[in-house]
Amino acid sequence: MPYKSTHTFTIFVVGLSSKIDDLLIKGSFVSGQGAASAFGVSRTAVFKRIQQLRKLGYDIEAVRKKGYRLVPRFDGLLPLEIKSRLKTRIFGKEIITLDSVDSTQTYMGKLAEKGAPEGTVVLALEQTRGKGRMNRVWSSPRGGLWFSLLLRPSIPPKELHKLTLLFGVAIVTALQPLGINASLKWPNDVLIDRRKVCGILLEASTEIDRVDYVIAGIGINVNTSLTDLPSEICDSAVSLCDIIGTKIDRAELLCGILKNSEDLYLEASENGFSRVISLWRSNSCTIGQRVEVRMPDGALRGLAVDIDEDGSLLVKYDNGFKKIYSGDIILL
Ligand code: BTN
Repeated sequence: MPYKSTHTFTIFVVGLSSKIDDLLIKGSFVSGQGAASAFGVSRTAVFKRIQQLRKLGYDIEAVRKKGYRLVPRFDGLLPLEIKSRLKTRIFGKEIITLDSVDSTQTYMGKLAEKGAPEGTVVLALEQTRGKGRMNRVWSSPRGGLWFSLLLRPSIPPKELHKLTLLFGVAIVTALQPLGINASLKWPNDVLIDRRKVCGILLEASTEIDRVDYVIAGIGINVNTSLTDLPSEICDSAVSLCDIIGTKIDRAELLCGILKNSEDLYLEASENGFSRVISLWRSNSCTIGQRVEVRMPDGALRGLAVDIDEDGSLLVKYDNGFKKIYSGDIILL
């Protein structure tokens, strides 16, 4: 494995390193002499940065008369490898790849408090105490895609749940080019043939009328074998590699999710969530199904009729209709 034990890419990198990194992620050759002259430093300083990057696990080739080039690796999840494939403006401009961490959510919480910028991504190859919704444990062995994204949205706190729907749509759409037809179970699960492949956890720091930050945590069983997951979820979970039959390039999938979610996020910031709601509807496996809604004060069975513009689930039951704003549902 090219990954070192827990190594962190310091965010807010400035100076020579970031200038060289920026050239490398463009994919072209970086000439030692050219970079040295352009940045007013010695060739040794340029070489030192290249050596540092190699030590961090990057594959950087050196070709005489051309210079240095970052070699793309299949499934390469180091920050520059991801950035070299990313087509976003904000999401993923800062990326931290960790070998192992308790939870990327907790790690991101500390960065958020220190003022990390919107779009920062923390990704871990494994989590030792992954967090699921409702204080559940999220099993996160190696091979999965486990990451958190920091948002600082200008929306009222009461609209935050719509972001969960937004990420669901972004994920389902990013799976389509892989030939995977996934669908959405309200509010936050991505399913394939009724088995869960991905979960979304939104955690926020808010005041009464404004949102300070949101941490969107996304966990996808990608190249994880079902045998690596706890036996109690094996029947209800699925992994992408089991569906496709080969290993999947997680960096590519991550870039797709970041791009899709950024596009939807920017559009929602401008025009509201109508498009997200409509895309969610058309990718849902919830609407038209009989469901059991589990809420803190009891369970309710009925027909999931629609999702409303406010993101709530509209359920028709014996005595009428009810709008569900939070809780878990079971597809019957
Ligand atoms: C769910 O319960 O369905 C939500 C699961 C969310 C898991 C992801 S994995 C990356 C991020 N870090 C965590 O600790 N949890 C989220």
